[in-house]
Amino acid sequence: MNTLFAVFLFLIPIFLLHTRRKKSSERLPPGSLGLPLIGQSLGLLRAMRANTAEKWLEQRIKKYGPVSKLSLFGKPTVFIHGQAANKFVFTANGSTISSKQTESIRRILGERSLFELSAEDHKRVRSALMLFLKPESLKQYVEKMDEEIRNHLEMHWHGKQQVTVLPLMKNLTFNIICSLLFGLERGTRRDEFVECFQTMMEGMWSVPVNLPFTRYNSSLKASKRVQNMLKELIREKRVQLEQRKASPQQDLVTCFLSIRNDEGKEELTELEMVHNVMVVMVAGHDTSSILITFLLRLLANEPAVYAHLLQEQEEIARSKSAGEFLTWEDLAKMKYTWRVAQETLRVTPPIFGSFRTAMKDIEFGGYLIPKGWQIFWAAHMTHMNDSIFPEPSKFDPSRFEKQVLPPYCFVGFGGGPRICPGYEFARIETLIAMHHMVTRFTWKLTADDQFSRDPMPVPTQGLPLEIMPRTRL
Ligand SMILES: *[C@@H]1O[C@H](CO)[C@@H](O)[C@H](O)[C@H]1NC(C)=O
Ligand SMILES: *[C@@H]1O[C@H](CO)[C@@H](O)[C@H](O)[C@H]1NC(C)=O
Ligand SMILES: *[C@@H]1O[C@H](CO)[C@@H](O)[C@H](O)[C@H]1NC(C)=O
Ligand SMILES: *[C@@H]1O[C@H](CO)[C@@H](O)[C@H](O)[C@H]1NC(C)=O
Repeated sequence: MNTLFAVFLFLIPIFLLHTRRKKSSERLPPGSLGLPLIGQSLGLLRAMRANTAEKWLEQRIKKYGPVSKLSLFGKPTVFIHGQAANKFVFTANGSTISSKQTESIRRILGERSLFELSAEDHKRVRSALMLFLKPESLKQYVEKMDEEIRNHLEMHWHGKQQVTVLPLMKNLTFNIICSLLFGLERGTRRDEFVECFQTMMEGMWSVPVNLPFTRYNSSLKASKRVQNMLKELIREKRVQLEQRKASPQQDLVTCFLSIRNDEGKEELTELEMVHNVMVVMVAGHDTSSILITFLLRLLANEPAVYAHLLQEQEEIARSKSAGEFLTWEDLAKMKYTWRVAQETLRVTPPIFGSFRTAMKDIEFGGYLIPKGWQIFWAAHMTHMNDSIFPEPSKFDPSRFEKQVLPPYCFVGFGGGPRICPGYEFARIETLIAMHHMVTRFTWKLTADDQFSRDPMPVPTQGLPLEIMPRTRL
């Protein structure tokens, strides 16, 4: 009840602001804020589960026009869309729009996460992350990822006739994260970690009602446990580094611990390390597993794309001796495969849309977005616009051949100066996984071809496949 009450108190000043502003010439966008706290959250979530969220937004646009107000996950929100809106969101200076997330996400991921930081702090943490995530550093992990993916196929695919892709891909990407981000070996500790982590993820898009048995409440509890485990891990790594039993380049945590400021102290606080390791986990886990899952689904449905992609991967396989790891140079040759991945992201973006916060009163499209309100944008609106992508429902990887796509239209990885820092990580992981899967197996879908969103897309029954081994070459 306390939360409900606090939110009511919080809404009162907004209504006051609202009336005060109406007197000035600036106008709030059309639309209703709905019920306090809940607003339109349940409607949107319901539409996402039914995979009709795109229609839900289109109906809004029809009813209210291009810019409209509503209330999502506990906060008044302005929904904007289109190329100009994307550009506006992705290029705005942090003192105008911040990447601050919904109340639920902020409480779950912590207030020192990259999303919550502004100006200097944001720069400092982002560059620490980039030190690990930039291509020149990730190059050294290609072999390690390759090994994780081979182990995975060995353990979960070989000798099987049926696999369920999505849970397996979550298992795979989580294992890769554990190995690369914090060198956490397989075992009970990893298993306990994954359990907490999954519960934590479930509350990311929830109404922030902190009562027992709400998704939000379990998610917050899980978040506390994940944070404690990470703190413990960081302390162990710190000792290992001091005793020279670990190297600074070993994983993300040792990398964070080794970045020093001018005074020789650790550049990031412990809380910043914890919260940003969580950001990378959240960003890297579901999105990559969903991308690989939808790639397998797509290849089962599009024989011509499959044939072309297989040819590219077989050529690379032919140039290697048995058991030899893929290299950075091999990945550079997988151009078609990556275009197929990008087109998959266009058609089925794992990130449906996301939130920002107005740091001051902003004007957009002739309307006022008041300070403190959320801004919500959705990827679908440009990805499926036929004047940007002709015949948008056609799957056509050649769209990504030319490097001249109009800017801020394909936003599978965001865009502008805040483009997803994990882009390269996702690319490497996806390409290596696709290489081994298409060269070792063929597959057929065994369930219907639908999916729902929660908030990430989830195929029916997690995409069960009938698989057959391929005799190599
Ligand atoms: C953002 O804009 C403000 C005022 O216009 C300026 O002082 C500040 O330096 C800008 N920050 C960045 C990161 O560009
Ligand atoms: C992955 O699968 C293995 C074997 O089924 C299981 O023991 C392990 O807990 C799973 N790990 C994750 C991270 O889901
Ligand atoms: C979950 O709800 C209970 C009861 O309202 C509350 O005491 C507890 O603090 C909540 N948990 C978290 C992690 O906020
Ligand atoms: C599609 O994109 C064009 C160019 O950005 C824009 O003018 C048009 O309004 C968009 N259509 C819709 C339905 O959003």
